[in-house]
Amino acid sequence: MTITIIGHGYVGIVAACVFADFGNTVYVIGHTPAKLERLRGGDPLIYEPGLAEMLKRNNTAGRLTFTTEYSEALKHSSIVFICVGTPPTPGTGEADLTTVFKVSETIGQNLNPDTFTVVSCKSTVPVGTNMKVKEIIESQLSKRLSAQHAPLNAIFSVASCPEFLREGTGIHDTLNPDRIVIGAEDQTSIDMLMELHKPFPGERVVTNIPSAELIKYASNSLLATKLSFANMIALFAEKLGADAPQVLRAVGMDHRIGPKNLDVSIGYGGACFPKDVQALTATGNQCGVNVSLLNAVEQVNELSWKNYADKVKKCAPIKLSTSPCLAVWGLAFKANTDDIRFAPAVKIVTELAKSGYKLKVYDPAAMENVRKQIGDIIEYFDKQYDVVTGADALCILTEWNEFRQADLAKIKSLLKMPLIIDGRNLYDPSKMKELGFTYVSTGRKTTT
Ligand code: UDX
Repeated sequence: MTITIIGHGYVGIVAACVFADFGNTVYVIGHTPAKLERLRGGDPLIYEPGLAEMLKRNNTAGRLTFTTEYSEALKHSSIVFICVGTPPTPGTGEADLTTVFKVSETIGQNLNPDTFTVVSCKSTVPVGTNMKVKEIIESQLSKRLSAQHAPLNAIFSVASCPEFLREGTGIHDTLNPDRIVIGAEDQTSIDMLMELHKPFPGERVVTNIPSAELIKYASNSLLATKLSFANMIALFAEKLGADAPQVLRAVGMDHRIGPKNLDVSIGYGGACFPKDVQALTATGNQCGVNVSLLNAVEQVNELSWKNYADKVKKCAPIKLSTSPCLAVWGLAFKANTDDIRFAPAVKIVTELAKSGYKLKVYDPAAMENVRKQIGDIIEYFDKQYDVVTGADALCILTEWNEFRQADLAKIKSLLKMPLIIDGRNLYDPSKMKELGFTYVSTGRKTTT
């Protein structure tokens, strides 16, 4: 099939590469020529394991075309996926749909009226958005077409086909979905989307458009709820002398609950959970649904990173004129990404720097992004052990693999005090005690 993907962020570029890898011809539309040139040269512009190889392979095979021209792409495409950003609106949390609507207008101005096209938002969009996209395209098409032309529903339809990939495992997740959700109004669109997704495993869920749109928000909000629940149990465990990971492991053994997404942490971040919980809250406020559960999920998420920052202040207090120097491992919102959107680690280092701590930081991928956002209030290092040298304590904020089996004896010899404050529970407390560390972890007793 020939398809068009509008936008080349995480969702757009991964989807483009995966569909191309199955032999489809894929046009990717962007608006910055310099970025499109880099994509043509095999640079995916984002950090995503395995993506550069896939991009190069499909560029070489001639299955990917990067362009700013809608007319060229839409002339040939039977399916168009809108994959542009829908960031939260400051203040209300509502998804900002400006770009979605702008590209819809351009689609309407360029859609080929002589073949049937399905237009679908892959970006996470509030319920009702795909129908607004339909109205915008219809209004543009009506301006262009003569009275004799075929009716608009013979020219195009809209559908919702949400994406569930996680950053860092985007290719694996796209190739191995738990389910393919298709929300559509007509059988032709369903058949075309089913055909495009034929090579993928996973259950098929065919439903109406509002349900498909809501499935995405419901999934992300429930996952975020699980995380805040786990982090609330961590707070209980810290007060009551329980071990939160063990408690949650046992809780997750109940098949009705499941073991995944129960790792305690410094809170969830990233481009999706924070934004989607806020957007569903905004929708609830608009349509009169009580959103106290979603509000609580967000509140606990805020408490999670604040609780970590408070622990640091307690264990490594600033005394009169002496500011402790903290080594920090990890800034990305999770491992295997350079993404720092809503990253709790960035909130924590900003808070600690403001409170007067000196911070030396290391992250394998995210430092440039952090430098752009918060500048030189912290000091950046290229090597993980260099930050530890002479620091008063080590703070672990992202669960990168290279931290999991770090040389603990070396860390002890480099630190001024043998203190590790671990927001991701990477180490075994009894082993840390044996090694002579004061080990402050999350939802577990401090060992010393
Ligand atoms: C999420 C959804 O998982 C995905 O289905 C959707 O398409 C996009 O949003 P992503 O944001 O990439 O994906 O990352 P995910 O791995 O789900 O992690 C989100 C946040 O939760 C991270 O900050 C992570 O550190 C945190 N997390 C995750 C935990 O704190 N504990 C866990 O057990 C799992």
